[in-house]
Amino acid sequence: MFGQIQDYQKKKNKVIINYEQHSGEVEFISPSIVNFFAPISNQRRFSRAVEEIKGDNISFEVTEDVGIILKTEQLKVVIHDQFKVDIYNKDDKIISKDYRGERKPFIRRGKGDIIAEEGHQIIKGNIKNRIEVLKEMTGEEYFYGLGEQTGPLNKKGYRYQMWNTDDPSPHVESFESLYKSIPFVIILKDGLAYGLFFDNTYRSYFDLGKESSQYLYYGVDNGNLNYYFIYGPSIKEVVEKYTYLTGRTPLPQLWTLGYHQSRYSYDSENRVREVADKLREKDIPCDAIYLDIDYMDGYRVFTWDQEKFPNFEKLISDLKKQGFKVVTIVDPGIKKDNGYLVYDEGLSNGYFARDKDGIPYVNRVWPGESLYPDFSSEEVRKWWADKQNTLLETGVAGIWNDMNEPASFDGPLPADLQFENEGHQTDHQEIHNVYGHLMVRASAEGIKKYTGKRPFVITRAAYAGTQKYSTVWTGDNQSFWEHLRMSLPMLMNLGLSGMAFCGADLGGFSFDCSGELLSRWVQVGAFTPLFRNHSAAYTRDQEPWCFDLETERIYRKYVKLRYRLIPYLYDLFWQEQKIGLPIIRPLVLHYQDDENTYELNDQFLVGENILVAPVVQQGQLARAVYLPSGKWVDYWTKEIIEGGRYILKKTPLDTCPIFIKEGSLIPNYKVGAYLDNKMNQELILDLYPGDFNYLHYQDDGESFNYQKGEYNLYQFAIACKQDLTISIKKIHYKYNGYKKFTFMINNYQAEEVLVDGQSHFFQNDEDRFVLVVGPDAKEIKISGTGG
Ligand code: GLC
Repeated sequence: MFGQIQDYQKKKNKVIINYEQHSGEVEFISPSIVNFFAPISNQRRFSRAVEEIKGDNISFEVTEDVGIILKTEQLKVVIHDQFKVDIYNKDDKIISKDYRGERKPFIRRGKGDIIAEEGHQIIKGNIKNRIEVLKEMTGEEYFYGLGEQTGPLNKKGYRYQMWNTDDPSPHVESFESLYKSIPFVIILKDGLAYGLFFDNTYRSYFDLGKESSQYLYYGVDNGNLNYYFIYGPSIKEVVEKYTYLTGRTPLPQLWTLGYHQSRYSYDSENRVREVADKLREKDIPCDAIYLDIDYMDGYRVFTWDQEKFPNFEKLISDLKKQGFKVVTIVDPGIKKDNGYLVYDEGLSNGYFARDKDGIPYVNRVWPGESLYPDFSSEEVRKWWADKQNTLLETGVAGIWNDMNEPASFDGPLPADLQFENEGHQTDHQEIHNVYGHLMVRASAEGIKKYTGKRPFVITRAAYAGTQKYSTVWTGDNQSFWEHLRMSLPMLMNLGLSGMAFCGADLGGFSFDCSGELLSRWVQVGAFTPLFRNHSAAYTRDQEPWCFDLETERIYRKYVKLRYRLIPYLYDLFWQEQKIGLPIIRPLVLHYQDDENTYELNDQFLVGENILVAPVVQQGQLARAVYLPSGKWVDYWTKEIIEGGRYILKKTPLDTCPIFIKEGSLIPNYKVGAYLDNKMNQELILDLYPGDFNYLHYQDDGESFNYQKGEYNLYQFAIACKQDLTISIKKIHYKYNGYKKFTFMINNYQAEEVLVDGQSHFFQNDEDRFVLVVGPDAKEIKISGTGG
């Protein structure tokens, strides 16, 4: 496609190579991030994912040998004819090599298409794309990322398609695409990791050794060749660098980390009040109630049904008094309806996507005939941001954007549907995968503008970089054990793809949940960043009290556990916005040298210190848990267990195996009915002795004042020989701090405690001891046994 190298020139961080047919550009973003670009379809360099990169000067050498050799302090990139590239690390170890041979697709044999009559899908031939990138495989690779795809954690042997798809049939491994397109894959080989991010929004394909075990394949028919090679060598660094490029989830409001109750069919004010009252009466903490499409007037967005919700604002303010926030759904499809303000404004201003003849395009979604706002235009996004206020001024606290793939009931949107694209008109093929991304960007901007608070948006469709604007959920799963099981690799891979704030519908959206399934699902949900029970209309009621007392008890236990862990989760979000690491993580992220972790589908870490090994099968009364090397403490029994091996853990229905890494501090809050920062006067420190430091972050949990420095950062330094020393340092102190610290020190019995030199009261319980100190305590010295 490119031909032979003719000449090249160096310009700042770039080398531009002229080939016989095209030119190619190689640009260093950092010493370990390199971009490969070739203007195949047009000259314009433009990204919806990478919005700003600091143009630091990167020093690198250029020499010529068998190819053009570019060398930074981290990488050696060798560029050959045909724009083939080979990449070595600083130890001259080959990390990635372009495949030079012909593609060798496997054979699909079959005669007579009669099987299609029975409904079978017939796949013929193999796709050939205009732009194809093939990288050599040796068989030693593990693949992670690619967003929320079905299948296992390691994507080896799978093929996926990047095309945002709304398909409500049960998600299974034969699905090549779901709602989100994140063309980013992490490759782990010989203990070293790197990422490939193909920033092209057109429909594209990834084949990770399915077609042939000798290469991985990326193909796309339009747009430009534009991809980043991101060297780790740790997976952590790959994620950190990928999120440096595409952005990180900003610090969310504290309440968004609480429990969310939703259902498609909370269709009247009375029903919403009933659910809210029941949550309080049943002592199940909850922070948010969702209104699905039923609240609207005939599914017209930015309206509400005056009959079923006669006192909309009062409902919201009453719920607020009970400690609930309200999140309302807003879909993109605008009802075609003269006299409906949003339609009229959109039409008269030319805000809807048009067909090739310039006529506003109509398809069908919930409201019937509907039009699609053209979010690729800045003006439309501003209009949409302003529209949010219709809901926000009633007291709505968050916006749920759905059906934004975009979904359409009368067949797919035509490929030649026209979009403004910031003055560079284009068609649906380029915009499809970023339609939802651009919509949530507008929603987030509106919330920020009208509330002054950190926006809470939740979206179904996404592209690389959507994490800057919105939390994501995995769409219409079903109340199947299989979907509970699959949600773990899905959420872990979403996290590795930059989507730190993610979750799946707890209990399953479609089909009928059972008490046992809900009991196991809440044990997972309690640890997922987004913790929302949501179910479809006409399915069995799925609120925690709708099964039996045992289910209700287990549900309460795990929602309360979640509320205790809120400050730990908030600390993880605070770290995340600085380094981009996800909240729930596959074990391989922290134990990259341990091959036992590479394909662990049913265990995850929350941050670095909590290991969760949930039960994801019906009737499973014991399960194997892999504990990586080091010591781990069983959260329930406080037993200390030596890791580096599998253990068998009994799992009666109310027990989700949870292990805390020895040498950790897990900050807790007292559990209330909801999260009210003003009530968080006491920080409880669940301490598992060892030698380490822990940073704890505190702020008002909702505004942007932290950006002006109004926050606290505490450092707890723990040293444990036989005696235990805890030093508390206020590294930054500009917010109203805690009134006391309560230490719960596990597996330790104290004999004497000195707080800043003074002898202090403490209390030994069975397997731990409890100590309460004032907010200004600096040094605690404990003599005792344990640790
Ligand atoms: C879609 C969403 C689902 C929602 C429903 C009705 O199926 O994925 O969450 O409840 O539409 O709005």
